[in-house]
Amino acid sequence: MSNNGVPNPIHYWLLSIQIFLFSSSALNARTAHGWGTKHHNPIKGGSHNLGHGSSSSSVYDSYQPYSPIFDVPSFGARGDGVSDDSKAFQVTWSAACAVKNATIKIPSKFRLLISPITLQGPCEPGLVLQIDGMIVAPGGPRMWLKPELLQWINFKNLHDFVIQGRGTINGQGSTWWWITPRILQNQLTNRNSRYDDTMKPTAVRFYSSLNLTIRDIKIQNSPRCHLKFDNCAGVKVTNLSISSPGDSPNTDGIHLQNSQRVEVENSTISCGDDCISIQTGCSDVNIQNIKCGPGHGISIGGLGKDGTLACVSNIVVQNSIMVDTLYGIRIKTWQGGVGSVKSVIFSDIEVSNVKVPIMIDQFYCEGGTCRNKTDAVSLTNITYNQINGTYATQAIHLACSDSIPCTNISMGNVLLTPSTTTKGLMQDLCWNSYGKSLATVFPPSLNCLETGNPLSKKASNFNRTHFTC
Ligand SMILES: *[C@@H]1O[C@H](CO)[C@@H](O)[C@H](O)[C@H]1NC(C)=O
Ligand SMILES: *[C@@H]1O[C@H](CO)[C@@H](O)[C@H](O)[C@H]1NC(C)=O
Ligand SMILES: *[C@@H]1O[C@H](CO)[C@@H](O)[C@H](O)[C@H]1NC(C)=O
Ligand SMILES: *[C@@H]1O[C@H](CO)[C@@H](O)[C@H](O)[C@H]1NC(C)=O
Ligand SMILES: *[C@@H]1O[C@H](CO)[C@@H](O)[C@H](O)[C@H]1NC(C)=O
Ligand SMILES: *[C@@H]1O[C@H](CO)[C@@H](O)[C@H](O)[C@H]1NC(C)=O
Ligand SMILES: *[C@@H]1O[C@H](CO)[C@@H](O)[C@H](O)[C@H]1NC(C)=O
Ligand SMILES: *[C@@H]1O[C@H](CO)[C@@H](O)[C@H](O)[C@H]1NC(C)=O
Ligand SMILES: *[C@@H]1O[C@H](CO)[C@@H](O)[C@H](O)[C@H]1NC(C)=O
Repeated sequence: MSNNGVPNPIHYWLLSIQIFLFSSSALNARTAHGWGTKHHNPIKGGSHNLGHGSSSSSVYDSYQPYSPIFDVPSFGARGDGVSDDSKAFQVTWSAACAVKNATIKIPSKFRLLISPITLQGPCEPGLVLQIDGMIVAPGGPRMWLKPELLQWINFKNLHDFVIQGRGTINGQGSTWWWITPRILQNQLTNRNSRYDDTMKPTAVRFYSSLNLTIRDIKIQNSPRCHLKFDNCAGVKVTNLSISSPGDSPNTDGIHLQNSQRVEVENSTISCGDDCISIQTGCSDVNIQNIKCGPGHGISIGGLGKDGTLACVSNIVVQNSIMVDTLYGIRIKTWQGGVGSVKSVIFSDIEVSNVKVPIMIDQFYCEGGTCRNKTDAVSLTNITYNQINGTYATQAIHLACSDSIPCTNISMGNVLLTPSTTTKGLMQDLCWNSYGKSLATVFPPSLNCLETGNPLSKKASNFNRTHFTC
């Protein structure tokens, strides 16, 4: 809407006209649905500015020092969960985006049905999306008007943006989880494209954005990943509740990619895949006070697929609880990749009936068979401290690359015992993992790290050292 923080008068002009058109229809809608009476707060950002619409600077000035409220009903949203409110939401967004410290409000008891949508910046700073009601996705691919299968709600190019409220974002994923690619193909409108079952939408995605806060809301039943940050920096996620059934396929909780300075805390995540997944390009990520389960635990990777470069560094996962998860804390890399994972701390993690609490898998292979390759993403400076609780299958599984072993692993204060319900325990595994145990570990087999420096022996093995992070 504006460049360098200076509002563009032409945009304002057009916007005012747009707001006028939408607001007048909105007024009818409100009267018809009785919404008008529920809002004791006059709508400052919506119809209120009609009178000043002819002059861009007076529109702007008239809000100060108040925080302008952009209430979706006043922009024509029905909120009945049946009518498609995408247009009204998009117009509310555009109007609020152009004003400093604007708040877009989705009232409680409102069910805003939204088709795939991109909510784009740059916006004036201080924009808040206050969700007290529900944002709900169309029910499955049949109602997916456009085959925009990457994501449902796409936030893009935002700076200094907040989502908060007591409300819920509901991805209606159950209509997607079990359908085959063929059915998906037939249900989508663009039938000429080819689809496979990985092409199901992430519920909420942030792309190329800075200084974001997502707090307090619930995100439920995504068709695929619930919340994704790609190419973002300065992200704070707190007091979130993410949930989908433990058997829903590929429903990661939070997915981080190419993102720096990320804090995820005080949140509960239960889903059918990784509670939090950290991909390449991430650094300075701090995760704490997470309750994860059901799910696949908290993972770094899979990295290095198809010989790609992976760079992950300065990751902390602490003070968290995993209950009935497949894994606890896991690093997984494909053979043949390059790059590194370094400086990772896993500390104060409590596990309860977790199949494999501590895992490094550098032979990660999903769907089919993978040949052994010499290139590998290197793993170094990984700390495990205060990991306790019960496991169901194997306490520790460290399978490091044959050509580039894991180095500088340190392990201390680990106390893991089989859970009472377990059947079929597997022996612990430490393969090509170097480092030291700094304090007590139990069972003693966890004390399996090799000492010394393996790289001097194996350096000749790797060919692609010129790929550096
Ligand atoms: C926006 O909010 C910030 C911080 O709350 C405040 O410093 C600033 O003055 C506000 N700007 C406007 C235009 O209201
Ligand atoms: C992001 O936050 C950092 C640290 O709080 C601040 O220095 C920077 O100016 C902010 N950037 C934007 C675009 O809001
Ligand atoms: C967490 O979010 C809920 C609403 O989902 C809210 O009631 C509660 O006050 C929030 N807690 C904190 C510490 O902000
Ligand atoms: C997370 O919770 C802790 C403990 O309740 C609290 O001190 C901290 O401020 C919370 N973090 C955020 C970002 O609200
Ligand atoms: C090892 O990791 C720790 C914790 O992330 C970090 O403080 C330290 O600087 C790292 N050491 C090296 C040599 O990178
Ligand atoms: C680990 O066990 C110790 C002693 O049994 C206990 O004091 C500590 O709180 C436990 N830590 C976690 C993260 O469960
Ligand atoms: C790949 O390497 C692992 C570890 O050395 C070994 O156990 C496995 O048999 C190898 N697989 C193939 C197909 O060579
Ligand atoms: C690995 O440990 C050695 C000594 O134990 C130390 O000199 C080196 O800086 C460490 N490297 C990393 C990346 O942590
Ligand atoms: C290194 O690369 C050369 C050619 O690029 C290849 O012939 C050789 O087998 C590779 N060595 C290893 C250990 O992969």
